[in-house]
Amino acid sequence: MDIINLKDNPKLYYVGGVVRDELLGRESLDVDIVYEGNAIEDCTSLGEVVRINPDFGTIRVKIQGREVDIASTRTERYDHKGHLPQVEKIGCSLKEDVLRRDFTVNSLYKSVATGEILDFTGGLEDLKNKKLRVLHDKSFVDDPTRIIRALKFSHRFGFALEENTFRLQREYLKNINYDMCYKRIKKELIETLGLNSDEVFQKFINEKIYKLVTPKDVKLLSVKIEPLVNKYAKISENIWLIYVGVLRDLSRLELTRKEQKILDDFSELEDFEFRNDFEIYRAFEDKEIESVILYAVLKEEKIARHYLENLREIKIEITGKDLENIGFKPSPKYKEIFDFVLAKKLENPKMTLADEISCVKENFGD
Ligand code: CTP
Repeated sequence: MDIINLKDNPKLYYVGGVVRDELLGRESLDVDIVYEGNAIEDCTSLGEVVRINPDFGTIRVKIQGREVDIASTRTERYDHKGHLPQVEKIGCSLKEDVLRRDFTVNSLYKSVATGEILDFTGGLEDLKNKKLRVLHDKSFVDDPTRIIRALKFSHRFGFALEENTFRLQREYLKNINYDMCYKRIKKELIETLGLNSDEVFQKFINEKIYKLVTPKDVKLLSVKIEPLVNKYAKISENIWLIYVGVLRDLSRLELTRKEQKILDDFSELEDFEFRNDFEIYRAFEDKEIESVILYAVLKEEKIARHYLENLREIKIEITGKDLENIGFKPSPKYKEIFDFVLAKKLENPKMTLADEISCVKENFGD
């Protein structure tokens, strides 16, 4: 993770995930660097300035073709609990900067110049013992997204919540302040439930973390979601929505149109009483795959699997041109004929085009 050109500066520190990941011997997704002081005032000479955000004291510079974000050390205050904090002071000491962070294992600094690790909160010990510990008792009240972040980290690293942290989580979830920033909650849910893990989901329900999304009671279901996703929807961007969809009440999450369609498609399927394969096929064929899986999870797994495994690939081959060739004038009757052939083909998927044509002649001929 070393960025050579920054090495002369003794006030620059790697911080957060990148230090944690290196100590765990894991690859990090992004590199966070903090400057002990005001980065906007002092760091512009490090490279070509790409962007400056004075509100947060952050600066992006380009050094030998690589863009690096450098944050000023800062203190924050949560006047509006559950929402983004107010920046109080830009350019404080590291000891003050650390207090705005979520868990001790995310609060380690590593000097860019010397490689020395600075640990103000016992993060090294917690990393060794695989513990997630908040820095103070009001941490979840200030920022409830940390509860979902803890779930993500515990799955990713096999860490457990330290006892007092677990107690604070339970207390917060019993008495939630629903006036919070759901955009941030949603972002963490996408990352965490998007991991497609029944184990994560079990904790999400059993530890009542789902209460962040809805005050309604939800029980764990017997159907496992993970294998269904692995088999049918592995590349979906909306895996998280299958899990969170189980809660049904997502009114707080400001869903996009595509996300809402997944839920609406599911509701439509849920209302059907299917009498035969033809009805199943017609109902499912234009639905989003996530909606079909939600149907498997919340309604009838057998029907959804039957559609996905036996029916979905069946297509009739006969076209309007074929019907014209055998003497049918274009008319609304075509639809009736296609439906009839499809129903027959669902019973006998081996039907060839010739079989389909004979079927039409037999049943619709004069
Ligand atoms: N942070 C925090 N509270 C949050 C979000 C972030 O205290 N709600 C702090 C943590 O110190 C964290 C750092 O900001 O390590 C960077 O945040 P982010 O990139 O979201 O987390 P990472 O720990 O880098 O995790 P990931 O590996 O998923 O990027």
